[in-house]
This record gives sequence, structure tokens and C-alpha cells, in this order.
Amino acid sequence: MSTDANALLPRELQSFLSCETPDAWIDEALAHPTLLLIDHAQCEKKAASTAMNLMYRYVGHTDLLTKMSQLAREELLHFEQVVTLMRDRGITYRQLSASRYAEGLRRHVRRDDPERLVDILIVGAFIEARSCERFARLIPFLDDELAKFYRALVKSEGRHYEDYLALATQYATQDIGPRIAFFAERERELIEAPDACFRFHSGVPAAA
Ligand SMILES: [Fe+2]
Ligand SMILES: [Fe+2]
Repeated sequence: MSTDANALLPRELQSFLSCETPDAWIDEALAHPTLLLIDHAQCEKKAASTAMNLMYRYVGHTDLLTKMSQLAREELLHFEQVVTLMRDRGITYRQLSASRYAEGLRRHVRRDDPERLVDILIVGAFIEARSCERFARLIPFLDDELAKFYRALVKSEGRHYEDYLALATQYATQDIGPRIAFFAERERELIEAPDACFRFHSGVPAAA
């Protein structure tokens, strides 16, 4: 990883992820800035709705309600910022199919609580950590306006990663280490396997 990106990322977050974003993905992202921003907007919106779904399902978990409510508001703010940036750049927001990434992680979530909740929170931590890492990796190649925006997002998504992980630890009835290791492997596969569909969380571009 470039020293620029390294300096921006907390060390724990770097070691939480099993692999770095492949260079081929960075090249693809820089070649498709419009697609990247549209999918980025989608991701922010989805992050807010994931947090709100947890607020509907786990009404007895006060710490979760507070953290997820704050997180949902921040994600919606990010969404508004991306939409404004797209408008300023003349980019038309259109529907995009989702990448395989989030579903590829969620399909391993266990069925019954509290294991279900713990897994969803761990998956949330991975999505936030990977987003944070990708923003940091892209920054050195971006124009000043986008670089400044992504630097703010690195901080914010880095906090979200910590929040998800802290909640997973809090609501677990046993050590979450083995589940983190399990999801780290699934996550690495999704990031390193060829992927025909370029998105913010896609794998190695299939043509590369
Ligand atoms: Fe966000
Ligand atoms: Fe986030």
C-alpha cells in the first residue's frame, strides 16, 4: 500500500482486513469515475438503511439504537454530499445493480439471535473497514475537492467500523475472534476473486 494511504488508516483497521485492495481495482476505479460516484451514493444510502433495519429489529438494545441512529444520520449526510458533488459534475444519478459483495457476506449470517445480530454487526464492521481502506487508497489519485471529501469519509467510516465492532463484542455471549476470522476470509475472497461487475466493493476486474 502507498505510504499516503497507510498514514490515513488506523493500524487496527489495516490488520482487521485480510488483504489490501488490489491495484487492478484502483486502476478500474480511476478509469470509471462516474460509475464509482453513482455506486458510492448507493452505498451511503444502503448503509443508512442497514442501520435503520437494525433499529427496527433490536428495539431492546439501547446502545445499538443510539449508535445506529447516529450512524444512519451520518450516512445520509454522506449521501447528500455525494449527490451534490455529482450534480456539480454533471453526473446523472441512475439505478445500478448491487455488487455481489454485501450479499456475499450476509449469506453467511447465522439464523438465530444473538448469533444473528453478532454476525450482522461483524459484517457491518467489514463493509465499513473496506470502504475506509478504498477511500484512503484512492485519495492520492483524486482531484483536490474529491480528495478532501474522501479524507473526511476515511475518518467517519473508520469510526463506524469501530462502532460496529464494539457493538458485536458487547452483544456476543462468547469470543467473537473466530467469527471475525471466518468473515475476514470470506471478505478476502470477494475482494480478490475476479468480478465481472465493477462497483465500489467489487473484486478484481474480470478483464484484468
Ligand atoms: Fe458513509
Ligand atoms: Fe459508514
